[in-house]
Amino acid sequence: MTDLSTLNARFGLSGQVVFKQGSGGLDVVEVVNSRGSATVALQGAQVLTWAPRGSPPVIWLSRAAKFAPGKSIRGGVPVCWPWFGPHATVATLPAHGFARTVPWVVIGAQTLADGATRLDFRLVLNEASRAQWPHATLLESHITVGAALEIDLVTRNADRSAITIGDALHTYFEVSDVRQVKIRGLEGCPYLDKMDGGKRKTQTGPVTIGAETDRIYLDSSADCLIDDPSLKRSIRIRKRGSHSTVVWNPWIEKSLKMGDFGENGYLNMLCVESANAADDVVTIAPGGEHHLWVRYEIEPMN
Ligand code: BG6
Repeated sequence: MTDLSTLNARFGLSGQVVFKQGSGGLDVVEVVNSRGSATVALQGAQVLTWAPRGSPPVIWLSRAAKFAPGKSIRGGVPVCWPWFGPHATVATLPAHGFARTVPWVVIGAQTLADGATRLDFRLVLNEASRAQWPHATLLESHITVGAALEIDLVTRNADRSAITIGDALHTYFEVSDVRQVKIRGLEGCPYLDKMDGGKRKTQTGPVTIGAETDRIYLDSSADCLIDDPSLKRSIRIRKRGSHSTVVWNPWIEKSLKMGDFGENGYLNMLCVESANAADDVVTIAPGGEHHLWVRYEIEPMN
């Protein structure tokens, strides 16, 4: 692991990109520029906060989040990789893979022409992760912080045979009150309802949340919009390389059981995850690569 002074000397950008120790002793990088600001944990290359300049937060981070090496952080943008949800065959392997709980290496930081900041991270497989994923695979995350937040998660297959992955950018969006928001863009999509034994259903109209919700929308590549009337804003989610979208809110009981949501945390968050989940897995030929790309922006609500 590289120490903070070395990281600041190599990648720090005066007043814009600063590496420091965050909660629980986890290293973070803080980005502030003329367009927006963000915090990213080096563990998991996990975006923890992001807001365009002058706007309230767009990404939710639980006030009761626990920060500890090797533990997933409740909120922000966890990277699920190389599988989504429970492992297909081995029940003891961690849900959503291991990428979110291991340290990533910083490989670049630069200011872009429009004033946004780009950070580049690489996951280096260690012995423990290789035991769970015995394939020569390179994973990088390129994060651009500005008036929009962009993440390009790139998987390269350096092995001699094809690999099959599931992945997701498991984003927790900040909402004023989840009971009042609507998600547009999933109308007509089939979905697997995990609250109803995985039954396949079809979405009619926008998605609203009034109870525990855990769904995998299939064949969904279009933009999603989270309309938030109290904040008078819509969050636009653009994506590429993702054919499924997970919508998740644990509601009261489950969030209390989880222990890192805080008492009413569930009311101010909504996960809309750009994913390759369930049967929507991605096979990458030797030498090939897959990009899971998202771009989040806010728009006035119309
Ligand atoms: C969602 C899943 O993506 O993540 C849910 O669909 C799961 O089933 C949720 O509960 C949170 O997962 P975790 O591992 O971060 O607690």
